[in-house]
Amino acid sequence: MLVAPSVLSADFGNLERDVKAICDAGCDLVHVDVMDGHFVPNLTIGPVVVSAIAKAATKPLDIHLMVENNTFFVDLFAPLKPGYISFHIEEEKNPHRLVQYIRSLGIKPAIVLNPHTPAEAVEYLLNDVDMVLVMSVNPGFGGQSFIPTVVEKIKRLKALRDMINPDCLIEIDGGVSDKNIAMLKEAGVDVCVAGSYVFKHDSYETAISNLHI
Ligand code: DX5
Ligand code: ZN
Repeated sequence: MLVAPSVLSADFGNLERDVKAICDAGCDLVHVDVMDGHFVPNLTIGPVVVSAIAKAATKPLDIHLMVENNTFFVDLFAPLKPGYISFHIEEEKNPHRLVQYIRSLGIKPAIVLNPHTPAEAVEYLLNDVDMVLVMSVNPGFGGQSFIPTVVEKIKRLKALRDMINPDCLIEIDGGVSDKNIAMLKEAGVDVCVAGSYVFKHDSYETAISNLHI
């Protein structure tokens, strides 16, 4: 299991310290939640702050766009050379084109599914993406409860992924902790995002190693 702590739960007054600390504590990716106040009822950070995160990080950024006008935001963040950029399929009229565009910028493309969106929505995109991110909360806020019906979706997605593109990773985001990580791994998750669980823990190292199963 790869671990991607979500910086949304970091102390923004000490962002550099916290980003360095999760990287030193052994995380695999640094998950960055970009919200525009339109696609989701919350507003987070733009390129000025994300570039400060990129400067502090020693692990690749995993930028999760929760925005309208995806292409505009891809162009804003591409110069920071993130490892992944993911966008919500619910907000994109031409997801296949955007996947190709992200790849043409030298960034790994990923697609996000909201809790109500079926696994089959990505069936004909699986060949072209490096990761599918399954939301296990409604996007917008850290610290929400895990939605259990998502486990069934992960299993369906894993079956499709194994058949179509075994190299594509399955990532989960929302309500992840040491309590449900074993069950998520069993269902087929390869990468977990964890915000409040990691940043509220006394030791980032212990929290990350508890998820590294
Ligand atoms: C929610 C974000 C998540 C969030 C996860 O919209 O995409 O990345 O920070 O936070 P936790 O792990 O606290 O549910
Ligand atoms: Zn996220």
